[in-house]
Amino acid sequence: MAAGDPRLAGKVALITGGASGLGRVGAERFAAEGARVVIADVADPEVADAAVEAVAASGGEVSYVHCDVSDSDAVAAAVEHTVSTFGGLDVLYNNAGVMIGDDDDPVATPLETYERTMDINVRGVLLGCRHAIPAMLAGRGGSIINVASFVAHMGAATPQIAYTASKGAVLAMTREIAVIYARRGIRANALCPGPIMTPMLAKFLSDDAKRQRRLVHIPMGRFGNPEEIANGALFLASDESSWMTGQSLIIDGGITAAYVTPE
Ligand code: NAI
Repeated sequence: MAAGDPRLAGKVALITGGASGLGRVGAERFAAEGARVVIADVADPEVADAAVEAVAASGGEVSYVHCDVSDSDAVAAAVEHTVSTFGGLDVLYNNAGVMIGDDDDPVATPLETYERTMDINVRGVLLGCRHAIPAMLAGRGGSIINVASFVAHMGAATPQIAYTASKGAVLAMTREIAVIYARRGIRANALCPGPIMTPMLAKFLSDDAKRQRRLVHIPMGRFGNPEEIANGALFLASDESSWMTGQSLIIDGGITAAYVTPE
């Protein structure tokens, strides 16, 4: 890559959950940096269309595929679609995830909630890797970005036990995948955002009191912006991070560094 080139020039990226929230902003950023992007999501058609339009407007080629990440056949089809549409797969951004409303402490959380969370957040990441890795090995290698969370590193007294467990699993799985493929041209890193006001968090922190309680623990005193996570994903996707694998990139306004936060 020469200085001044777009940072993802020539790369093909598959972004799960890319129709809204952090994934959509990431898709726009990747496209603006020269990537050809496939969005895989279960979004309503109008949400999917809006995402495709926005990504195309930021300058890149984009394609949408309906795909539930917990369904192995659907994920295999999304990878095939990516390779047949754009000729390869260089970046897998495993971003799709859910935080379910009645996810609570270990006593109260319904087992169905635990299982659904694990199916999407953990099995979904595994399936993404399972189907993308052979395509990457057959091509130019690649970069896998698995979205975990700051809660993979710290506990909270406002629990979402299934969600937290799922993100811990993503982090551990990412390290192992990184080690397995380190000599075969595939890197894998976990991206760990702090709280960002996407539709997911807005549902969870539904009133001002809840938002203020969360803000107290953020040294920077504000929620993050989706662009601040997309910038981290862009770094991990690009060759700028070519000697980085098996790591956790935490972007959280200082939460995980803090013992006491400023007044
Ligand atoms: P969001 O709810 O705004 O967007 C998630 C996207 O994933 C949606 O487009 C949704 O349709 C899609 N999705 C849900 N289930 C799916 C499935 N089974 N198959 C395919 N797509 C599916 O969420 P947000 O905030 O953008 O989160 C993105 C990722 O970032 C998630 O993994 C989340 O856990 C993680 N994260 C978010 C944080 C936040 O504060 N927003 C903090 C830390 C991590």
